[in-house]
Amino acid sequence: MPSPEEVRDGQRAAWARLSAGWEKWDSVIMDQLGPVGTAMIERLDVAEDQQHLDIASGTGEPGLSIARLSPRGRVVLTDLSAEMLDVAARRAAAQGIGNVETKVCSADDLPFADASFDSVSVRFGYMFFPDMPKATSEFARVLKPGGRLAASVWVSPEQNPWTSIAMQAIATETELPPPAPGAPTMFRCAAPGYIAALYEEAGLHEIAEWNVPLELVTDSPDQYWAMISEHVSLAVAALQKVDGPARDRIRAHAIANVTPFLSDGKIRVPGLARCIVGTKPDLR
Ligand SMILES: C[S@@+](CC[C@H](N)C(=O)[O-])C[C@H]1O[C@@H](n2cnc3c(N)ncnc32)[C@H](O)[C@@H]1O
Repeated sequence: MPSPEEVRDGQRAAWARLSAGWEKWDSVIMDQLGPVGTAMIERLDVAEDQQHLDIASGTGEPGLSIARLSPRGRVVLTDLSAEMLDVAARRAAAQGIGNVETKVCSADDLPFADASFDSVSVRFGYMFFPDMPKATSEFARVLKPGGRLAASVWVSPEQNPWTSIAMQAIATETELPPPAPGAPTMFRCAAPGYIAALYEEAGLHEIAEWNVPLELVTDSPDQYWAMISEHVSLAVAALQKVDGPARDRIRAHAIANVTPFLSDGKIRVPGLARCIVGTKPDLR
């Protein structure tokens, strides 16, 4: 089992490499993940002067959308990767969003005072944390009484063909070893109730979870493969292990399997996320 420090070091290095792919494919990724951010934000009751903390912000969402909704508020975008947050800062500047700041830190060790935020969001970050219970207790600690936590994770590979098509293609050429217990993987938090149990353990109440469908839309099968192979962490890591001819065969395999998803001149591949919301009790 990797130590928490090993997990953090691995993640820091991986996301430094992935940041260019996320910036390059920004609009496609944001369109795909947008419905999940919207679903999370709807449950956060964002006020005009919201003090909000976005965890594992990556290139900035849903934190930037929340900043736009609270012009007199403040949003802190945090991530383990300085390179991902650099992209977030560039996106904030390009969108004219001034009420945000960035802070490099790990989700399980937050440099913020107790009860300092009205809300916390974590879109597709949980599965990468070395210590998920500790991270959740940190989120509960920095929330004000009555404040809300909203997170999202991926449901099963079967319900996310946008990524499983690529992973199946990769598996035809290279063995994908089962992840070590405790190692970060995309579907690590997939079990229903998994994140809700962490919320409960951290003392949150009014916990609810629900599924949100989404769609990855690309112009062509070629574009599908290009964007997946340049920004999905597992795919990028696996493709580094094979030679050029094997990469070409994987690409051909993925393109053949994604082509049936052609509809209205676009490739539309579905996915399913689970959102989880909870509230810090107000005992006053
Ligand atoms: C899939 S991206 C999600 C980015 C963004 N929230 C979104 O939905 O577009 C996952 C992010 O988790 C970050 N991450 C990984 N381990 C972390 C940790 N221990 N603490 C904080 N962030 C972490 C990565 O650097 C990466 O930016």
